[in-house]
Amino acid sequence: MTVEYDPFSAEVRRDPLPVYKQLRDDAPAYFMPKYDAWAISRFQDIWDLSSSNDLSAARGTTPAQLLTRDQPVAPMLNLMDPPDHTELRAVIRKCFLPKNVRAVEPIARQLANELLDAVADRAEFDAIDDFSARLSVTVACMAIGLPLEDGPQLTKLVQRFFSHDPDAEGMTEKGLGALAELTAYCEDMVKARRQQAPGSAEAIDAVVGFESGGRGFSDADAASHIAMLVIGGSETFPKVLANGLRRLWEHPDQRARLVADPSGIDDAFNEILRYDMPTQFLGRTVVNDLELHGHTLGANQPVIFLYASANRDEREFDDPDVFDVGRKPARILSFGAGNHACLGTHVARMEGRVCLKAILERFPEYELDLDRAVRLRTEFVQGFASLPVRIG
Ligand code: HEM
Repeated sequence: MTVEYDPFSAEVRRDPLPVYKQLRDDAPAYFMPKYDAWAISRFQDIWDLSSSNDLSAARGTTPAQLLTRDQPVAPMLNLMDPPDHTELRAVIRKCFLPKNVRAVEPIARQLANELLDAVADRAEFDAIDDFSARLSVTVACMAIGLPLEDGPQLTKLVQRFFSHDPDAEGMTEKGLGALAELTAYCEDMVKARRQQAPGSAEAIDAVVGFESGGRGFSDADAASHIAMLVIGGSETFPKVLANGLRRLWEHPDQRARLVADPSGIDDAFNEILRYDMPTQFLGRTVVNDLELHGHTLGANQPVIFLYASANRDEREFDDPDVFDVGRKPARILSFGAGNHACLGTHVARMEGRVCLKAILERFPEYELDLDRAVRLRTEFVQGFASLPVRIG
């Protein structure tokens, strides 16, 4: 069967899952002539290619960098290759170790409860704007070392960075403007930090103090790395949580199981991550020709990893389209894999545990108003921009 796949097509944006299945079955290495790029859809292929030295992240990873090519490639950890990437990653990684995350967990728990206290008398609240976006930006500010009171301003900038024009492919002017503003804000923070004694466990110190071959980052480059951490640290979690609230609402029996026994919440969050990964794909560029399923992926061609497809691959998961909070898969691809695997995995899992527990404890019978929810259906992100949760 001939498969037609274009991540920007209206059909794919409406519901990408059927075409992902066709790709996995019939065209696991699929060539997109329009973009001179490849789409990889099976779990094992993406897993293996994520550690391949024949691919580079240095020419971008987002659709706007690799396909429409309207987003510039900035100095950011996720856009670097070894050996520079390995050195910087090792330094930033130390700020996100499980012991650091454990120290933040009680603060996150308190914050989650305060945010729910603030809405408890209302008939409904927004899962993202009133709750998960506030929590994730505050936790990101704590980990990075930015003033907590700047959280709301940063959330707005990051949301604007992801703004999408349904009539145009790629980045919007508004989005690029927001990135420039966010980077300028981070540059001010970097300059201020250079005046202070280093030595905290915060990521901003790791970046400001980083040296390789006797040289450190300029203020502008350090700011760009920090901006990446703000975006990565605050953007995806709220969407995952909203998807999770939706699935638990659709499966009241599974929700009731978690309410009765919250020890299953970690596995449940893992299933939420697997089932509805909001980020549809990220990619790389081929540096040395490589062979896959009878095709040659040629030098300079972009390759996109369809993470959301891999997480539904029947070669990896039994009944992948069944949502089951008791599932214990050996691995998932929601945090990527290999050299660039997410550094915030422990942070994100902690946030998932804290937020789900707080909501299920306080509002075990919550209802959703999907008719008034604002859906995100872009080539890059699937999920919600706003999700009303009824509690009154
Ligand atoms: C549910 C929430 C999150 C999800 C689903 C997620 C997902 C991902 C994915 C898929 C990648 C791989 C990127 C690639 O393939 O190029 C990644 C990278 C990264 N993430 Fe996350 N992330 C989340 C939360 C966070 C948080 C909370 C932080 C930090 C506070 C963070 C920091 C990073 C960093 C620094 C990288 C780049 C690592 C590198 O290039 O070496 N992420 N994330």
